[in-house]
Amino acid sequence: MTGKTETTFELTDSASGRSSQLPVRTGTIGPAALDIAALHKDLGVFTYDPGFGATAATESRITYIDGDAGVLLYRGYPIEQLAERSSFMEVAYLLLLGELPTSRQLEEFTGNIRYHTMLNETLLRFFNGFHHNAHPMAMVSAVVASMSAFYHDTMDIHNPRHREIFSHRIIAKLPTIAAAAHKHSVGQPFIYPRNDLDYAANVLHMVFAVPCEPYKLDPIASEALDLLFILHADHEQNASTSTVRLAGSTGANPYAAISAGVSALWGPAHGGANEAVLAMLEQIGSADNIPKYLAMAKDKSSHFRLMGFGHRVYKNFDPRAKIIRAMCHKVLARLGRSDNPLFELALRLEEIALKDEYFVSRKLYPNVDFYSGVIYSAIGIPRSMFTVMFAIARTVGWVAHWQEMISDPLMRIGRPRQLYTGPTRRDYLEIAKRA
Ligand code: ACO
Repeated sequence: MTGKTETTFELTDSASGRSSQLPVRTGTIGPAALDIAALHKDLGVFTYDPGFGATAATESRITYIDGDAGVLLYRGYPIEQLAERSSFMEVAYLLLLGELPTSRQLEEFTGNIRYHTMLNETLLRFFNGFHHNAHPMAMVSAVVASMSAFYHDTMDIHNPRHREIFSHRIIAKLPTIAAAAHKHSVGQPFIYPRNDLDYAANVLHMVFAVPCEPYKLDPIASEALDLLFILHADHEQNASTSTVRLAGSTGANPYAAISAGVSALWGPAHGGANEAVLAMLEQIGSADNIPKYLAMAKDKSSHFRLMGFGHRVYKNFDPRAKIIRAMCHKVLARLGRSDNPLFELALRLEEIALKDEYFVSRKLYPNVDFYSGVIYSAIGIPRSMFTVMFAIARTVGWVAHWQEMISDPLMRIGRPRQLYTGPTRRDYLEIAKRA
């Protein structure tokens, strides 16, 4: 624990008179955290915070969010500046190593990533085990987990060089695995990576190229994808990153921990929302139907939620949503499809929801995934691959957090406690005596 301690809270149990001095840890910016590690020892109680709404599970130096102000910083750099001026590979270097690279460092880093883009041929055969309609996220999660079998003997988590090779390998191979999952779904031959292309362009090449004719790469598509990758690269202790940290904290093989992250990301409350937003927009169909669907979103007896709206941390505009909305205008105009009906519908839905008392009072704003699907579909990415694209980008964040955790000499296994509400002690009853 390196956070500074400036004050303490004294907590007293009025029944027993016992008390505990709890240090308040301050970071560099953002709310301080009450260090409750001594609470159970001193007072015999746990804290209770379902959903971790008020619990800092770790210290971290990677990403900072101010949810009220709509601020997102990667290693201190505002997301708006990175989105406008950086590239995904540069952002990956920044998130992993803490500083922006020099030209030579960036060249060396991208060279290391390129070196690892191919998959072992036997790993590719795993895809044949899946039915053609398997969801690509299920295939990606399974194939990433199987990498722990390929790289088990050569992966000592306490060896920094092994950790570095793991980082390069997983970031390099995720697009190859993702594209292979897509090719399997559509029954096309697998396309090998092209190391003369940059990271995002190579993703598009592997997803769209076919062996029988040359693939013409659209620079607008790779620019848009690179931007989406920057925006999705990290988001501090979100559900999938916390999953990677928790799985990794047991000392598990990191490929298995990343696979756990892919699975956590898939849920519609998290990364699966980008796919769900497009399905929802199609379901709404036209602006006339918006009031009906808004009423459903507000009805607590309905499971329907406005997908792409709301966030655990942002109680203001998600800064990434603003950047993506602007990119939507640019991409659609440059593709000559400014009159995209789903984008028009999304804009109208946002406008109406942001005036609605239900959404205003709960501070529900569009999140990163409200507009990302519009861009993905405009550049031809199939809907089932939206969350896979998110997983490619977020792999960088997962790896950065795993590295930060494993290289901390004070790392402990993550092991939450509980408030038990089940039966009290009772004796086993022979089956014949049970009613
Ligand atoms: N539509 C309708 N009502 C909503 C929505 C929504 N999208 N989001 C939250 N609410 C309501 C809740 O019903 C609740 O109302 P109440 O106070 O009357 O009970 C209130 O707003 C607070 O919501 P919680 O569910 O407590 O917020 P939580 O922080 O647990 O959930 C979440 C955040 C999961 C993102 C939620 O807003 C949601 O389900 N949104 C839709 C899915 C989505 O877009 N997920 C992507 C998130 S971004 C990402 O992971 C990449």
